[in-house]
Amino acid sequence: MARAPSTPKITRTLKDLRRHIARYRKAGETVALVPTMGALHDGHLTLVRTAKQKAQRAVVSIFVNPTQFAPNEDLARYPRDEAGDLAKLATVGADLVWAPSPDEMYGANFATRIEVEGAARGLEGAFRPHHFAGVATVCCKLFSQATPDVAIFGEKDYQQLCVIRQMVRDLNLPLAIHGVATVREKDGLARSSRNAYLSADERAAAPTLSVAIRTVAVQVADGTKQAAAIKAATKALERAGFGPIDYIAVADAETLDRWDPKSGRPGRVLVAARLGTTRLIDNVPVPRRKA
Ligand code: PAF
Repeated sequence: MARAPSTPKITRTLKDLRRHIARYRKAGETVALVPTMGALHDGHLTLVRTAKQKAQRAVVSIFVNPTQFAPNEDLARYPRDEAGDLAKLATVGADLVWAPSPDEMYGANFATRIEVEGAARGLEGAFRPHHFAGVATVCCKLFSQATPDVAIFGEKDYQQLCVIRQMVRDLNLPLAIHGVATVREKDGLARSSRNAYLSADERAAAPTLSVAIRTVAVQVADGTKQAAAIKAATKALERAGFGPIDYIAVADAETLDRWDPKSGRPGRVLVAARLGTTRLIDNVPVPRRKA
């Protein structure tokens, strides 16, 4: 019989996490992990719903990972709302929340870093040089702590998803990675914890980001030169008040190298741009056209 949804149990020590996981395993249950930094929104809840479909137990980690923020980034002001997160997780039937302190996650004299190349090069990697080493290191730790059968990531952070897939492949980590399509507001803005930083005027302008990259995606699928499509999108974003625009790129959907329209491989359009003081990212697939 299905269990009635209730507030998930919360665990803050590795010893206790392992005890819970061992109990699930002893009962023959599979485990899905949803790594998050909290400040949960509908996008995260969709990941947890997917976790519940993929495994018998859904574990959600909430950890604002200091090692993926540069000193000039928003670690201190990153939104935190543990009580709100737990209430939301109760509505989707998460079983367990893993919420370690920074000291529990990174013990004294912690000195290991996982540096992924390939998909981590360029785009976010160029603008946030230490970011993906921080993400890869904490995800590798989360995987070895929670030992999930599958981990669920949103396509909203598309390059992150590619980097995690690369790490799991390269290190033969024994879990599957499942990507979930971006959850959007009605006006097309991708759900993100950082949307909370936008002023009313910025929020009104923000959907231009997804319109601009969708336009690029359709244009390049129909044979427009990438440079021309990107130039037009850059102008549209600047008119809407975005700037600086860190990048708009048309990339191979797996390697994130420059997309060759003749390759027959799937493409992805990715963007990062600032709106006021908030840096937004988004991405969409290049539609497939029949040959
Ligand atoms: O996408 C995020 O929220 C974070 O980068 C992750 C995957 C939880 C690692 O800290």
